[in-house]
Amino acid sequence: MKQIKIFDTTLRDGEQSPGCSMNLQEKLEVAHALEKLKVDIIEAGFAISSPGDFESVKSIAEAVHDCTVASLARLNIKDIDAAYEAVRGAADPRIHTFIATSPLHMQYKLKMTEDQVLEKTEKLVAYAKNYCSNIEFSAEDATRSDPAFLVKVVNAAIRAGATTINIPDTVGYTTPAEMQNLIAYLIANVENSDKVDFAVHCHNDLGLGVANSLAGVLGGATQIECTINGLGERAGNTSLEEVVMAMRTRPDIYKNPPRIDTTKIYNTSKLVYNIIGQTPAINKPIVGANAFAHEAGIHQHGVLANRSTYEIMTPESVGITANKIVLGKHSGKHAFDTRLRELGYELSEEELLDCFEKFKVLCDKKKNISDSDLRALVTHKKKDTENAKYSLDRFYVHASNVLSATSTVRLKLTNGSTIEDAAVGNGPVDASYNAVRKLINPPAHTLEKYSINAVSEGKDSLGEAMVKIRVEGSDDLVSGRGLSTDIVEASIIAYINALEKII
Ligand code: KIV
Ligand code: ZN
Repeated sequence: MKQIKIFDTTLRDGEQSPGCSMNLQEKLEVAHALEKLKVDIIEAGFAISSPGDFESVKSIAEAVHDCTVASLARLNIKDIDAAYEAVRGAADPRIHTFIATSPLHMQYKLKMTEDQVLEKTEKLVAYAKNYCSNIEFSAEDATRSDPAFLVKVVNAAIRAGATTINIPDTVGYTTPAEMQNLIAYLIANVENSDKVDFAVHCHNDLGLGVANSLAGVLGGATQIECTINGLGERAGNTSLEEVVMAMRTRPDIYKNPPRIDTTKIYNTSKLVYNIIGQTPAINKPIVGANAFAHEAGIHQHGVLANRSTYEIMTPESVGITANKIVLGKHSGKHAFDTRLRELGYELSEEELLDCFEKFKVLCDKKKNISDSDLRALVTHKKKDTENAKYSLDRFYVHASNVLSATSTVRLKLTNGSTIEDAAVGNGPVDASYNAVRKLINPPAHTLEKYSINAVSEGKDSLGEAMVKIRVEGSDDLVSGRGLSTDIVEASIIAYINALEKII
């Protein structure tokens, strides 16, 4: 029985969805986290879609060693050329090419007949095969395609050399029984179906992404396509953490679960949320704040007597540790490093020193440092801002409920000099943002989202600020993050961080 492969498309299907764009450095960080999580395949992007996407697929292909790296390509020569050029440096490159097969898509989008789609599939999969042995073929909108036609297309793709056949539920329309039957039908009717992997790629429009993926596995699929936190177009894709933990929790049903190191799930999820400037819904399975909380008295009573009364998996199995207050002013670097390792972080010496420095500064402001504080320190790494042109040097705000707030902000430039200006505003954050804009003079943009969250409990908690801005005339949202025990300071840092990305 083949082990289920996990194909992670956070950096392609996830990243292309509104509000989830990442810069190169962020994508590399996610790719390394996915490698440590032990996903089998990383879909690093859609190489032809932009020079930036091409560069990031190429960089990820060269940086990652323990996973196959794929680039998406429509079924045409230019796309396939670009995809191969971008992934060729990978230890195991894969070209992932696709064409739509449903009557709706063929008639209105492609304006092609079934025969033309068949011919193109055979010709261009063979073209891609000249470049590399690892070829994935996807029949877009497969779940609304004629199954008999799908058999013909998949036969053509396999004849031409495809090694993985993906059956996407592109619009999140199918149901579990239908998906299971479709995969079983294809495996039974396609020639040489035992020589390839069948994959399922489910969107979550009806909240069935995970259920449909698991049903696909029961039908015989050996690859699941998914994203961290279920990011993706519209309602998202199958969530990696949910589908993996479902298989791990029910080995009686799923006998060949993937090789994922589940103890890395929580940190990877947190990293991705942090980068895109979102937080999970509190009741999000596996990684939401309440996923392992037992509030009701009757549940607490049961859990205290025996955890498995109300707990089907342990928080530790996904890398959530009790939020212990472990470190303080007198803790040394060794204790700091040990606790970070226990939390699942392996930092380079340079990163460790950077975090330790920030930890010491934090200890002067806060007596007890919790695991949540440590996670926040690690996520807001120095390298996120070290090439920044501007950094916050100091600020002074005056706010009241009778007068407009005023803020004086001093920024430090890369050459060590400083610039300072003041502004008024509707509250201390608004006044500070007005002052920052006067100093930086960024391109016209709108502030689409601003939030501040306490990282841990208590009034001395670190505040994590997140902003999302949109440059005028662009569809992309750019996010910025800041961390401080002072919420105005965290807010200013987050805004500068976002502005840096657009200037
Ligand atoms: O949802 C979809 O059909 C896709 C394909 C390009 C694989 O993302
Ligand atoms: Zn998709």
